Amino acid sequence: MSRIPESIIEQIFSTAQIEEVIGEFVQLKKSGSNLKGLSPFNNEKSPSFMVSPAKQIFKDFSSGKGGNVVTFLMELEQMSYPEALRWIAKKYNIEIPEERPQTPEEIAAGNLKEGVYLISDVAAKWYAEQLHETDQGKAIGLSYFKERGFTDETIKKFHLGYSPEQSAAFAEYALANSYSDQALESSGISMRNERGWYDRFRGRVMFPIHSISGRVLGFGGRILQSNAKAAKYLNSPENPIYHKSKVLYGLFQAKQEIVKRDEALLVEGYTDVLSFYQNGVRNVVSSSGTALTEGQIAMLKRYTPNITLLYDGDAAGIRASFRGLDMMLEQGVNVRVVPFPEGEDPDSFAQAHSTEELEAYIGSNRRDFISFKTGVLLEEAAGDPLKRAQMVREIVASIAKVPDRIGQEVFVKEAARLLEIDATALFEELDRLLNDQSRQARRKQQQEPQMEAVTGGVPEEAKILGYEQEKILIQLAISKGKEIMLEEDLDPEEVIPVTVANWIMRELSNDGITFQVPVFAKAYTLLCAELEGGEVPETSWWVRQPDPEIVELVTEALTEKYVLAKWEAREIYLPKEKNIIFSLVRDTVFRFKYQHVQRQLELLKSKLEGDDIQIDRYMNEFHKWNQLRQMLDDELNRVV
Ligand code: CTP
Ligand code: MN
Repeated sequence: MSRIPESIIEQIFSTAQIEEVIGEFVQLKKSGSNLKGLSPFNNEKSPSFMVSPAKQIFKDFSSGKGGNVVTFLMELEQMSYPEALRWIAKKYNIEIPEERPQTPEEIAAGNLKEGVYLISDVAAKWYAEQLHETDQGKAIGLSYFKERGFTDETIKKFHLGYSPEQSAAFAEYALANSYSDQALESSGISMRNERGWYDRFRGRVMFPIHSISGRVLGFGGRILQSNAKAAKYLNSPENPIYHKSKVLYGLFQAKQEIVKRDEALLVEGYTDVLSFYQNGVRNVVSSSGTALTEGQIAMLKRYTPNITLLYDGDAAGIRASFRGLDMMLEQGVNVRVVPFPEGEDPDSFAQAHSTEELEAYIGSNRRDFISFKTGVLLEEAAGDPLKRAQMVREIVASIAKVPDRIGQEVFVKEAARLLEIDATALFEELDRLLNDQSRQARRKQQQEPQMEAVTGGVPEEAKILGYEQEKILIQLAISKGKEIMLEEDLDPEEVIPVTVANWIMRELSNDGITFQVPVFAKAYTLLCAELEGGEVPETSWWVRQPDPEIVELVTEALTEKYVLAKWEAREIYLPKEKNIIFSLVRDTVFRFKYQHVQRQLELLKSKLEGDDIQIDRYMNEFHKWNQLRQMLDDELNRVV
């Protein structure tokens, strides 16, 4: 794809509102001048993810990640920089001029993952075209969807398609248009053997599976005639972009409604999602025939803690799902269940009833998981005392997964009522189980080395001598760069206003010092180039940098409170804010120089020990640095 012009990048950054973009992925609530929500990067129970509309940055205090609107998309959706820009441009209807298709060379140069994204997107468009614009597609695919009661609107909304019966129709199209054969094969959309290419989904109606942001990741394809030999549904294989356990069918279309209703309805199949959506009950997603994984639960929990499972009446399926439901309880989800009448599935029920009827059915049949499980087991154990004892243990085991005591108590009382037994017996069983579990957990903890907890978050670079000084200094240059320093040594009449950024650059270049930590050095080089061009960068300029590493540093600088806090902790009282900044910058620069001098002295010392030929030169240098250290000592003593 062509390069995005600088002016358009500018326009994208100035139009995009970070809170609007992130709001599509995370439920945000106002918190002072910021917005808060559950981290999309971590599975957490209390919100530690912050968005600042004023600074146009986000900061995730649980994972330490931070950045701007573009790096958010890069991080969350694994987009490249231009992809993230294009995504935002699309959202805000900003036109990017002269897009042309990729040449084979460009495709070859791009990595395989990008190629798989591209070919998946191309395939989805092609399947839709086959459905709507070819005779075969209309006669076979479209008429099938119509027969099942789906409207044009639903078919368009879910980008449904049709894969023709010819053995390699898509492969031929893709290769004729110079799409990468490697990406095609890796996507699993087409495959090849000794006899050549063939399409995985030939003769099937197609359900594209989207990411949260609407990119095509993979497909489900349904066979049209019932055929004992072929599977009813075929799905994309695991590939660089499609991971079955990390997607939920329909989430892209349902996410806003899930937030609005503060509940996600979970169904089993593609057609259940479609029929619910078409009926008007749109907070619905599908795990595509398998039990929910931890990753899928975490995805849903970003939008709501309330997950309701809709089952068809088949008892074996319900029993098999109990383990998965326990896992949801464990993750703090409010799990509820709605069974559908024998012989119906959510699809057929939604097709046969009005929105009001559907909502009323869900409303009056929705039960919390514990009562539901108790009911199912009670029926199974009817009249069998041995089974009854086993059943009590099973129910208590589920209750033990509920992470808070209040929730446990509610469920114990409810289960006691349904089982018609004394709640104290259940409480005793529960406490015994919890005790066992915590003993086991402790034992496990003692056996495992406790590395994780200690090492988190300290970068390799932090070992560089003076890392902290460097970090504070570059953060000040970024966050306070435009503040005015007053040169206190000058005569008041001669005072020349100088910015923090300019002052830092002058001080460092006078002594020929730069940063040791690579990312700080990179930021400093950027800063110097701007300053030499006569510009002092605004914080918004920093936030918009294309280099994600720089943006991460900038975000940290803009959210870092400890710089001033540390200063205040030393109980240094300075009357005016300007003076605080001035002293802080000066102090940091001197400490920074001091570190540098120390490093030079160490270096010289080791040379003096080893080499006597140039000893005079080294001695001279040593004295020079030592003098400078003396001077800095004095300066620093004056401040601290
Ligand atoms: N599924 C699958 N592979 C199969 C069968 C099922 O991946 N061979 C997944 C599909 O995502 C399907 C879901 O499991 O949507 C539920 O399966 P099932 O209830 O059999 O299908 P329905 O959704 O009812 O599909 P249809 O109404 O089209 O028969
Ligand atoms: Mn069905």
